[in-house]
Order: sequence, then C-alpha cells, then structure tokens
Amino acid sequence: MRFSSVFVLASLVASSFASTVADVQADIADITTKLHALDDSITAFPTSGGTLTQALAIHNNAVALGSSIDQGATDTAAVTPNPVSDADGRSILDSFEALEPTINHALVGIVDRKAAFTALPLGGIPALVKQDLANLNASTSNIEAALIGSAPAGLVGEATDLKNRIDAAFATAIAAYA
Ligand SMILES: *[C@@H]1O[C@H](CO)[C@@H](O)[C@H](O)[C@H]1NC(C)=O
Repeated sequence: MRFSSVFVLASLVASSFASTVADVQADIADITTKLHALDDSITAFPTSGGTLTQALAIHNNAVALGSSIDQGATDTAAVTPNPVSDADGRSILDSFEALEPTINHALVGIVDRKAAFTALPLGGIPALVKQDLANLNASTSNIEAALIGSAPAGLVGEATDLKNRIDAAFATAIAAYA
C-alpha cells in the first residue's frame, strides 16, 4: 500500500514535467507570432532615419521571441512519447520549416540595417543587437537539439539539415556584428 502510494506520487511528479505534442504545437504557434512581430519591426526600421523607439521595439520583440523559444525548447525536450510518432514528427517539423523564410528575412534585414543602427544618436544599439542575436542563436540551438532529440528516426536527418541551415544563417548575421 505504502509502496503503491509512493509510485503514484512519483508518476504525478514525473507527469508534471512532461509535455504533450499539443503543448509543442502551441509553443510553435506562439514562436511564429513572435517571430513575425520581430521581422515586421525590423522591416519597419528604415535604412536611414530610424528612431531609437523603433530600435528598442526590435530589441523588445527579440527578447519576447527568445522567451517563447525557450519555452518551446523546454516542452520539446520533455515531450512524451519520445520520439514522437511519425505523423506528429512530420507535423512538428513542417511547422518549424515554415518559419525558415521569416528567420532568414529577419536575419538579412538586421544585417542590412547595421549602418542605420550605428547612425542612431544613442550609441550602443549595434552592441545590443549583437547581444540579442547571440541570445536568440543560443535559444534556437536548444530548440533545434530538442527537435532532433524527439524526432522519429526517419526525420532526424531532415531535422538536422534544418538546424544546419538556420545555424549558418545565424552565423552570417552574428559575423556581420562581430
Ligand atoms: C550559436 O549557439 C551555439 C550553441 O550555444 C554555439 O555553439 C554557436 O557557436 C553559436 N553561433 C555563433 C555564430 O555564435
């Protein structure tokens, strides 16, 4: 009796750290919203004559996206079952791949605006952008690892290819701010 109570308690504790495929899909939806907000704020920043308010909006959107990615990484790493089913793995990977054009657009856009950030009257904005890029890269690395770690065997290669493409895009942008 006592033993089975301990077992039930242990199961409850374990389940409180587990997440479902639906949690992961909800996280990806949130990441998608935050990524578009970030990309839109970068696009809205003109290549000359932008304001400090606009630059800070980009920073705030980058921080918000980072939090969403971190939540997604936590849930994806704790998803049960692991690996997820072939159908769920396909659907999760499709959702991630759908983000790729916007990630690339945002990263190219931020590089294109480096001179405009440097020209702002308050110094330090390029350094802030550099830090935001480093943080987003680190968060993205974590969710990529969790995605690969929970992928069914038949999708590991495709998930790894996606990771390599996104990492390369980050490396290019980070190098521009080095
Ligand atoms: C991105 O983050 C990963 C994991 O922290 C790191 O290994 C990699 O060097 C980072 N990329 C760049 C360009 O800094």
